[in-house]
Amino acid sequence: MTPELASSLFETIPMPIILIGADQTIVAMNQPAERLVGGHMRGRHYITALRQPNLLDKIERTIETGEAQHARYLGREAERETIYQVQISSCPLGAVLAFTDKTADEDIGQIRRDFVANVSHELRTPLTALSGFIETLRGPAKSDPIAQDRFLTIMDHEAGRMTRLVDDLLSLSRVEAEGRVRPKEPVVLSNVLSETISNLEPLLDQAGATLDINDQSNGAAVVGDTNQLRQVVNNLIENAAKYGKRDGTIHITITPPTHEPQLRADGIRLVVRDEGQGIAPHHLARLTERFYRVDSHRSREVGGTGLGLAIVKHIINRHRSRLQIDSVEGEGAVFSVILPVFAGKDALKDSLS
Ligand SMILES: Nc1ncnc2c1ncn2[C@@H]1O[C@H](COP(=O)(O)OP(=O)(O)O)[C@@H](O)[C@H]1O
Ligand SMILES: [Mg+2]
Repeated sequence: MTPELASSLFETIPMPIILIGADQTIVAMNQPAERLVGGHMRGRHYITALRQPNLLDKIERTIETGEAQHARYLGREAERETIYQVQISSCPLGAVLAFTDKTADEDIGQIRRDFVANVSHELRTPLTALSGFIETLRGPAKSDPIAQDRFLTIMDHEAGRMTRLVDDLLSLSRVEAEGRVRPKEPVVLSNVLSETISNLEPLLDQAGATLDINDQSNGAAVVGDTNQLRQVVNNLIENAAKYGKRDGTIHITITPPTHEPQLRADGIRLVVRDEGQGIAPHHLARLTERFYRVDSHRSREVGGTGLGLAIVKHIINRHRSRLQIDSVEGEGAVFSVILPVFAGKDALKDSLS
């Protein structure tokens, strides 16, 4: 095979490919490789073009022994840093380098590491408090029943925080595990709303919140998973109670079924609006990230885990629905969930096929 033939073959391959000839110069490369190392490197020694010691060592070894090698290569393309796994193989013309883009895998790895670090941090705070109080109960407060009672109340509170965190983590992983299975049961939003509200009564009382409910759905059903939709409604009303105005009103609307361009189908909206401080625009896009809080101190004070909206977002994605967050600072926040209407078994079958 001639270098010209190798070049034209390489152009059919989407990943960067480089051929190093017997004279150790670059004799052929395709366009993705040109974007990576520069087209002007054709004809130059491979050491000039590739410059990363680990990769250069491996190329040398393949040229000497004929054995295939693997190496990492860090690229920079259009201001983006990329990470490649390079396979170096021997061929009659010299050595062929094939680059596989591993950037996305590495990004996922980073997200996982951040997540573990966050969870550990969230657990460590209540654990440290618990250990501290155990020590105090054994020592200084050993024969002080009043102090003991106070510390046990705080310990109970801290243990509750850990339980909520573990519960939310489990919910999140359950929703993630089912992420690709689309729910298909009819769910009447009015029922979900009234059940959720009765569970939330103690919290609503505590916040002094009044509900203003405007249900126009007339018993219409959406396509969904009842338990998960309860969780969505629960988390949104809970936030409205915790971050809304003290002794204020929480406005909840369920709209009648109408065509929703965002779903490209008929949908029903459930809208939860509070009268609190609202959320500054630069926070809105990040609000559904795990452990993202506008005010960590306030969130911890009201027993938040920072996972409520991440769970909502995952459930909404699984339902192929939309979550919209609007807020004018100082005038409260509006969380809208747009869910697809359940149009009877036949219509459902059509829409799934
Ligand atoms: N209705 C709301 N009004 C103002 N801020 C809100 C509202 N809902 C959520 N937030 C902000 O978004 C953050 C993330 O919410 P969430 O995921 O439910 O976590 P948590 O409530 O456990 O802190 C909260 O900490 C809070 O700062
Ligand atoms: Mg919350």
